[in-house]
Amino acid sequence: MPQDLFGAIADLKQELNAIVLAHYYQDPDIQDIADYIGDSLGLSRQAAETDAAVIVFAGVHFMAETAKILNPDKLVLLPDLEAGCSLADSCPPAEFAAFKAAHPDHMVVSYINCTAEIKAMSDLICTSSNAVKLVQQLPADQPIIFAPDRNLGRYVMEQTGRDMVLWQGSCMVHETFSERKIVELQVQHPDAEVIAHPECEPAVLRHAQFIGSTTALLKYVQGSDRTSFIIATEPGIIHQMQKATPHKHFIPAPPMNQCACNECPHMRLNTLEKLYLCMKHRTPEITLPEDIRVAALRPIQRMLELS
Ligand code: 13P
Ligand code: SF4
Repeated sequence: MPQDLFGAIADLKQELNAIVLAHYYQDPDIQDIADYIGDSLGLSRQAAETDAAVIVFAGVHFMAETAKILNPDKLVLLPDLEAGCSLADSCPPAEFAAFKAAHPDHMVVSYINCTAEIKAMSDLICTSSNAVKLVQQLPADQPIIFAPDRNLGRYVMEQTGRDMVLWQGSCMVHETFSERKIVELQVQHPDAEVIAHPECEPAVLRHAQFIGSTTALLKYVQGSDRTSFIIATEPGIIHQMQKATPHKHFIPAPPMNQCACNECPHMRLNTLEKLYLCMKHRTPEITLPEDIRVAALRPIQRMLELS
């Protein structure tokens, strides 16, 4: 392994004509080497627009898969193929096909945190930053299935006043925050605002002064007069918050269980070493059957057009 991994990765970027895209939940080192850091919508837009020959996706499998769906002729690398997502896993394709068949007149709106097979069964993809806006644009009398995240689905229902049939999936990270410990933190830090990702449970969201995607949370702390925040999402985002506003104080929301961790175990499988190795050996590569890719592309393109 080279001593200067940052330098070695920079050289490989040149050699491969590669772009490194990283989600905010990645280790700070990976964020610092990335060409672009963003939320799921920003990352999809970058993947759709890049003219690099190779996309190195520092995120989880469904994100790299989305990049491949948009770029069938490019090499898309994921540092660790095991970097999955508990939310995507909570929606198995065969069970979802039966669920969809039971609601034949419903349009399927799926959160981007799902597999290509689920995307292929969907009419429209959304992310946490555009879900409310997209659902608001659908005809008022159109029945909707929303999958796979029940918490985001419930939040969208509240914000839009629409009734939707929800698939009962959830994210293991955003479910772990303790309402009681957040309230205790608010008592200890009365000036701190709670800000939360919409994947959190309603018991946590009801204490939040602001709810939004990772990018929206970052913009919020930059624009706010407050100097102290309790952050109810994966704490990787705090790296960018701290860089953008070094004088502000960020407190990660604690998990319910003392032994549990609020870091995403899937996102954190990627390391700087694995990033270097995947570029050096051009593997592991994301591949998917062409019929699934073509079917999954349509609702993603629809999202990019509408948002
Ligand atoms: P956003 O990137 O839309 O904020 O979603 C967070 C997330 O859980 C990604 O897995
Ligand atoms: Fe999936 Fe949750 Fe991890 Fe995001 S934070 S990748 S939704 S398990």
